[in-house]
Amino acid sequence: MLDLTGKKALVTGIANNRSIAWGIAQKLHEAGAELCITYLPDDRGRFEKKVGDLVAPLNPTLFLPCNVQDDEQIDATFAAIADRWGSFDILIHCLAFANKDELTGDFSATSRDGFATALGISAYSLTRLARAAKPLMTGGGSIVTLTYLGSVRVIPNYNVMGIAKAALEASVRYLASELGPQGIRVNAISAGPIRTLASSAVGGILDMIRHVEETAPLRRTVTQDEVGGTAAFLCSDLASGLTGQVLYVDSGYQIMGM
Ligand SMILES: NC(=O)c1ccc[n+]([C@@H]2O[C@H](COP(=O)([O-])OP(=O)(O)OC[C@H]3O[C@@H](n4cnc5c(N)ncnc54)[C@H](O)[C@@H]3O)[C@@H](O)[C@H]2O)c1
Repeated sequence: MLDLTGKKALVTGIANNRSIAWGIAQKLHEAGAELCITYLPDDRGRFEKKVGDLVAPLNPTLFLPCNVQDDEQIDATFAAIADRWGSFDILIHCLAFANKDELTGDFSATSRDGFATALGISAYSLTRLARAAKPLMTGGGSIVTLTYLGSVRVIPNYNVMGIAKAALEASVRYLASELGPQGIRVNAISAGPIRTLASSAVGGILDMIRHVEETAPLRRTVTQDEVGGTAAFLCSDLASGLTGQVLYVDSGYQIMGM
């Protein structure tokens, strides 16, 4: 029943084979979607090579650089999509960033620049990408972003990223309201802690994972594959009545009080 044949999907946020976006891209591909994959360009072209080699088996139609801090790169990405596909159906926003020194110690020590960087890359980028996607999602569509429990509960060291995720989740609701009449659904997946490049910057991530393994109803944390499965579901017609929501894919950890 989960069939994405004929659907065209833009997937952001693959850095390596541990990335949650990699789990999502594989599931979308398995379900039959055609992919446009973007990577974060760097001076030495390391990500281009690494991500390009990783995603090659998924035969992406488009493989493009896109730093979400750069409006020209965003516009070039969507111009390439318009040129190649005319319209598209699925946008996966799976990226975040905060300076490492903001992800440990006192929250009140958050710097003005660190706050702006974290919120700009991790939250505002969803709105900016959705704005560019809106005129191209002519047959309706599904936008999915990734969030974390630190948006609504205090998680040690998550600090400014918790504020960014709270803004991201509020953005999901505002975008869902605006884009719903056009048949575009917007949802967030709140994933349990997984070891990735981004999460390794958060102080004490291994303790967080251990705590979830001891406490969550399923007594384990989740995998990229499981998050990918939920993302594929959200992008499919099986989720046609679902928008503006935050779905917890966290082995049930979020329900626990103690
Ligand atoms: N790993 C976890 O425990 C966990 C839990 C819940 C939510 N999330 C969220 O999942 C998403 C993906 O993170 P991940 O854990 O897979 O780590 P990851 O490091 O694999 O992915 C983060 C991605 O963000 C990209 N990125 C950073 N700055 C960018 C920019 N300026 N422009 C474009 N791309 C940029 C990186 O290139 C990378 O591909 C993030 O939003 C993260 O907050 C992660």
